[in-house]
Amino acid sequence: MRKIHVFDTTLRDGEQSPGVHLTMEEKVMIARQLEKLGVDRIEAGFPASSLGEVANVQAISKAVRNTSIAVLARAHKKDIEAARDALKGAATPCLHIVLATSPIHRKYKLNMTKEQVIERAEMAIQYGKNYFSDIEFSLEDASRTELDFMYKVVDRAIQAGAKVINLPDTVGYASPETFGDMFRKLRENVPRADQVLLSTHCHNDLGMATANTMAAIYAGVDQVEGTINGIGERAGNTAIEEVALALETRKDVYNAQTDMVFNEIYNTSRMVSHYTGMTVQPNKAIVGENAFAHESGIHQDGMLKESSTYEIIRPSTVGVSSSTIVLGKHSGRHALKKKIEYLGYHLTEAELAQAFEDFKKMIDQKKYVIDDDIHKLINQKFINHATCYELSDLVISYP
Ligand code: KIV
Ligand code: ZN
Repeated sequence: MRKIHVFDTTLRDGEQSPGVHLTMEEKVMIARQLEKLGVDRIEAGFPASSLGEVANVQAISKAVRNTSIAVLARAHKKDIEAARDALKGAATPCLHIVLATSPIHRKYKLNMTKEQVIERAEMAIQYGKNYFSDIEFSLEDASRTELDFMYKVVDRAIQAGAKVINLPDTVGYASPETFGDMFRKLRENVPRADQVLLSTHCHNDLGMATANTMAAIYAGVDQVEGTINGIGERAGNTAIEEVALALETRKDVYNAQTDMVFNEIYNTSRMVSHYTGMTVQPNKAIVGENAFAHESGIHQDGMLKESSTYEIIRPSTVGVSSSTIVLGKHSGRHALKKKIEYLGYHLTEAELAQAFEDFKKMIDQKKYVIDDDIHKLINQKFINHATCYELSDLVISYP
């Protein structure tokens, strides 16, 4: 099975989420957790942005010894020098140089010709080689770059010494079909691309970051970049937990896997949410509050018979203790029965039928019910008959 390298940029692109500012201690704790999670590389920051950021990266480099640490630098000597200072104590450092290549960026942001862009890329990579043996080069806004020009930049960057070539969808403009094709065409037109790791880095402006990343993997890329919970600039980055589980669940399609330790995913997600203050949307894939919660009677009935009816991933796989059966207006008799049993009551079939009727009346008045509501419902009518029952191993919880 093909190995997909995971480049986590929670501490760099993720921290670029509006309103997020992590302290050094928080960054170190998250970096340690990312190491436990088994990502291959942690992008720890952008040292040229401040002296504080240099110190943050130095602290992370000291604390994390078994995962490669990368930092971002623009194609300027002073950025590369800041990267060198920040990573001087790292066990396996990597310099990540970025330079935009699209016509829009060349014209409005860089005011540079195509040839000047190529020369700048070569200069930066060659300068970087004075301090680093491992250099990644990113063609910012690659998905809006002319293909012919992209081929030239990639070829020259490889000749200059880049070990990883990253083609980002910087503004989330790509579609899975075009994005996969871009990588296929690159390999066909730049034979030297076989000598380096090809990487992808997607943003979620159209909600397609994970889909585009999967298309890139299908087209043969070796490395994916993303963040925990998909945090990042604007609508965020690819959520790496989604990619890891998509590969695991659909080995038949991708025949590829990451080295991520799945049961650390949920803890990592909680930690990142806590320190960044960015709440995870309840219906977020893999790590959302509702990712393993079932409300409708039809689904609950299926789940109580066999969980694979409505779950393609076991919650325990990603470190979530159990599925949840939520009692709401769509819930059925089977789920209510389980809940009643879980609370320690045993009703006759006739009593259960009555309890279900009462429950339906109750739920019309409320958004959801809590244990106390069920206790009241049973106690009012059946307490003299209800007998204690063994606790089910199914955990039932409420929003
Ligand atoms: O989105 C982007 O293009 C980036 C680069 C620095 C890789 O974040
Ligand atoms: Zn980005």
